[in-house]
Amino acid sequence: MTEETTRPITRTPDQAIDPIFAERWSPRAFTGEAVPEAELLRMFEAARWSPSSYNSQPWRFLYALRGTPEWDAFFDLLVPGNQKWAEGTGALVFLVSNSRMKVGDEFKPSASHSLDAGAASLAFALQANRQGWHVHGMGGFDRERAVTVLNVPEHHRVEAAYGVGRATPWADLTEEQRAKERPNARRPITDFTFRGGFPQRQD
Ligand SMILES: Cc1cc2nc3c(=O)[nH]c(=O)nc-3n(C[C@H](O)[C@H](O)[C@H](O)COP(=O)(O)O)c2cc1C
Repeated sequence: MTEETTRPITRTPDQAIDPIFAERWSPRAFTGEAVPEAELLRMFEAARWSPSSYNSQPWRFLYALRGTPEWDAFFDLLVPGNQKWAEGTGALVFLVSNSRMKVGDEFKPSASHSLDAGAASLAFALQANRQGWHVHGMGGFDRERAVTVLNVPEHHRVEAAYGVGRATPWADLTEEQRAKERPNARRPITDFTFRGGFPQRQD
């Protein structure tokens, strides 16, 4: 990440962790710069090394580069609220997972295909940051139409979409845009970690 894209207000983790985790964030303003395919492939390479059940590697990344014939079809799947900021991204990615895995000679349902794809998605996003790009995830797209438009096979689940691009430098943002780029916070780890199991049933 370059100095000029870094937001002036940074997140401060409660524990000593590698800065890469708190530095990742989802911009809502992108410059419109195209993402070279070679750059995107490096991000997919990081995803490639993610762990998965039985090493089944159920993630599938479908992508369109800005300025190429596939772009419009990908972009049209996004809900209008996401199109607003995603029009400045340089690549659009849909993450799909295969819900079946091969164990021996048999195909079996995977209990963790979405979890495995999620692991790959974070590797992808963190690598993008390391390369100076940003990734913004989206659940807001037409899932039914995505299956058709993207030729998604049976036994596959469309997990999420991602806009990848160059975050607009802080200096170039309007006040309104800056307000939207304020870093969000997280619950403390005491809210979601429990030694010995849940203290009491929460349902
Ligand atoms: C699966 C998934 C779906 C998301 N869907 C949307 C979306 O449709 N629109 C949007 O603007 N942000 C979306 N986000 C971004 C989240 O709101 C964001 O990651 C979260 O608020 C944490 O902020 P940060 O990424 O800046 O740390 C999504 C993120 C994920 C992982």
